[in-house]
Amino acid sequence: MASNAATRRLDGAVALITGATGGIGRATAARFVDEGARVVLADLDAEALSDLAAAFGPSAAWICADVTEEEQNRAAVALALERWSRIDIGVLNAGIEGRVAAIDELAPADFDRVIAVNVRGVFLGLAQLLPALRRGGGGAITITSSTAGLRGAAGLAAYTASKHAVIGLMKSAALEGAPHNIRVNTVNPAPVETRMMRSIEAGARPDDPDGAKTKFLTGIPLKRYGRPEEIAALIAFLSSDEASFCTGGIYTADGGTMAG
Ligand code: NAI
Repeated sequence: MASNAATRRLDGAVALITGATGGIGRATAARFVDEGARVVLADLDAEALSDLAAAFGPSAAWICADVTEEEQNRAAVALALERWSRIDIGVLNAGIEGRVAAIDELAPADFDRVIAVNVRGVFLGLAQLLPALRRGGGGAITITSSTAGLRGAAGLAAYTASKHAVIGLMKSAALEGAPHNIRVNTVNPAPVETRMMRSIEAGARPDDPDGAKTKFLTGIPLKRYGRPEEIAALIAFLSSDEASFCTGGIYTADGGTMAG
């Protein structure tokens, strides 16, 4: 898992990463460890978590934690404090895309599930992280929103609503955190090469997922999806002291998508 990070900006820091075994979460964990951080990996699948933590060695701990459950968010933060007696960074990244369907074809239960994971999950994560960071004298929290948090996407109304909503949570958390030296920001990627985009492509055009991808690419000036490592690099910057004046901000990594 080791690579040649140019810097070790996160030396000594302890970070909680949710959605840690997914595409962006995994790349973020690897980048954080490269930069000297210790990481608590939180996600749903014990085997995937244990394999990933093993690859990082003593720099990683893991916990099965469903972000929609208050107690499991509490346990994730508690693990960092038990293991390393501190917590400095949160990456609230767990998310689901939900079913691709028009609003009038989306079951209310499907809508509720996306909001539960993507919005309630972030709220519960913030509610545990903010007091813990306050007690430690400050820190940084990054929430994974999306370009779907900045504009609509046909067939993904619940997802777009959820990604807009976390920008509101981020802004309020940034204001509440600022007096305590806690910075809170969102990253807003355009499509990234992960399981999630493959699922959205298949949902948009079950008969021709490659055709769906070709259509999505027409909206991205750089004409490609992002790589998870490119999002991880932005999250690492925002989590580090190099971003010491950055809070309450929306940071796109989108190949120019929102410029158009
Ligand atoms: P992914 O599907 O590879 O990773 C998502 C992870 O979240 C998975 O490991 C999954 O197990 C975990 N997760 C889902 N529900 C959970 C729950 N209730 N509790 C704990 N963990 C849970 O997808 P990806 O792309 O890595 O997504 C990460 C974040 O980035 C998500 O919030 C997503 O909405 C966002 N994003 C992704 C983009 C993309 O094109 N892949 C673009 C913009 C934003």
